[in-house]
Amino acid sequence: MQQQNPERPEQSTISVSRSARAPRTPATSRVGVAALILFGMATAAFVASCGDSSPASTGPHFVQLDSAQVQAGKTIFRFATFGDESFWTDTARMHEVIAKSVSPALALQVGLKVDSDTLPQAVKDALAAGQVDLTSPATTVTLLKLGAVVGLKGTVQTVNGKDSLVSVGITCAFCHSTVDNSFAPGIGHRLDGFPNHDLNVGAIVALSPAISPGLKAILQSWGPGKYDARTNIDGKNDPAVIPPAYGLNGVAKEIYTGDDTISYWNAYVAITQMHGHGTFVDPRLGISIHNGAEQVAPLLPALLQYQLSLHAPAAPAGSFDAAAAARGKALFEGTAKCSTCHVGSLYTDINEGKLHTPAEVGQSAEFALRSVTGKYRTTPLRGLQQHPPYFHDGSAVTLDDVVNHYNTLMSLGLTAQQKADLVQYLKTL
Ligand code: HEC
Ligand code: HEC
Repeated sequence: MQQQNPERPEQSTISVSRSARAPRTPATSRVGVAALILFGMATAAFVASCGDSSPASTGPHFVQLDSAQVQAGKTIFRFATFGDESFWTDTARMHEVIAKSVSPALALQVGLKVDSDTLPQAVKDALAAGQVDLTSPATTVTLLKLGAVVGLKGTVQTVNGKDSLVSVGITCAFCHSTVDNSFAPGIGHRLDGFPNHDLNVGAIVALSPAISPGLKAILQSWGPGKYDARTNIDGKNDPAVIPPAYGLNGVAKEIYTGDDTISYWNAYVAITQMHGHGTFVDPRLGISIHNGAEQVAPLLPALLQYQLSLHAPAAPAGSFDAAAAARGKALFEGTAKCSTCHVGSLYTDINEGKLHTPAEVGQSAEFALRSVTGKYRTTPLRGLQQHPPYFHDGSAVTLDDVVNHYNTLMSLGLTAQQKADLVQYLKTL
């Protein structure tokens, strides 16, 4: 393991091209879906209110958005695979696993989500009537043919009336979108930018027959909502909680360790993790991957615009006690010292170029040392109620855990009442 990781020179070589090309949206087709049992048809009451709770419309890092670029970026975020089918299909053989053994029931169980807006009315009616076979992998193939599985793009060929899944790839929406459960649990309208904390990425990838037993054990250890974006680079196993991809306009540096910009990280993930085609070189991490003709860089500008357009969801009405929250705000800015790091309307000091040592914030040194900076970025606080657990490793399951962490770490001596007030304030962010 590295001893120390002092400020490494900024020399990433991500070239951000100006042209953005929107890939095709998967065509929806009319396919009959056979018999099935759908558990828990109760519609979830959760409604995401996508208001902008704290717009940071000024500041040096705030980007003015171009609506055409935002629209193009939305398609990329949802549907672009950057050619990663060559990995997920040819190498990982996921199309065979899915066609053979992944029923919709299993898919929902490992956290995959279904976009109800892509389902023809006949399919919705059949689902509602319990006439769709959720235990049959053939139904999953049908859903993929409809483009209904969030973040998973399948190509289906129909020969003599029989559908077969010939390729699959993944998109950004796989980890960074969920649904509002308005149709059924796991089935509803897309919520882009919301981390999918039900998604068990490790369990899904471990289904591949091409995975070694050693890697399989690592993948199976992660659990839902977590992913290690460096295991295949450094062989270590220390997954991070999938963060929201919303509320980032105005934030200078991204990821828990503040390595670099959004487009840097998008290229990192697209090429080194999703196995999209293109070149990613970062001497700071000793990474140099050349994976075929470039399909990532031309899409980065529009992809960036779409992410920056995603506002953090406002706290649902009635989800906090306003009077307690007002007292909590005073504590946040005073006695509890939170605003010494969580500054301004974005609640982060990263725009002042500040990072924090693991010891300073009571977080793991091992995780930080695998990154470019070796330190932690003060997380911009956004939509907090909507994406537990907290901290890079999910060690704080609730906001009470967050407050207790700091109360102990910084010997704040907060009373039970003060802690409760602070939690009410955090719920408003
Ligand atoms: C397999 C799951 C997965 C996929 C696919 C994925 N990400 Fe992520 N994303 C993560 C994880 C985990 C992190 C946190 C990494 C870290 O901080 O070390 C992250 C971090 C981010 C962040 C930083 C958020 C912040 O608070 O700074 C953004 C933005 C982001 N991803 C966007 C994207 C985009 C765009 C794509 C598609 C090119 C993508 N991600 C694909 C799992 C994923
Ligand atoms: C010394 C700087 C510093 C201080 C003081 C500080 N924080 Fe943080 N905060 C951070 C850093 C750095 C992280 C990221 C840690 C991680 O992900 O492991 C963070 C993460 C968080 C998170 C998790 C956000 C998420 O999406 O995972 C919350 C919530 C939070 N802080 C609230 C607070 C509160 C409340 C206080 C005051 C009691 C406070 N912080 C004081 C630096 C600080």
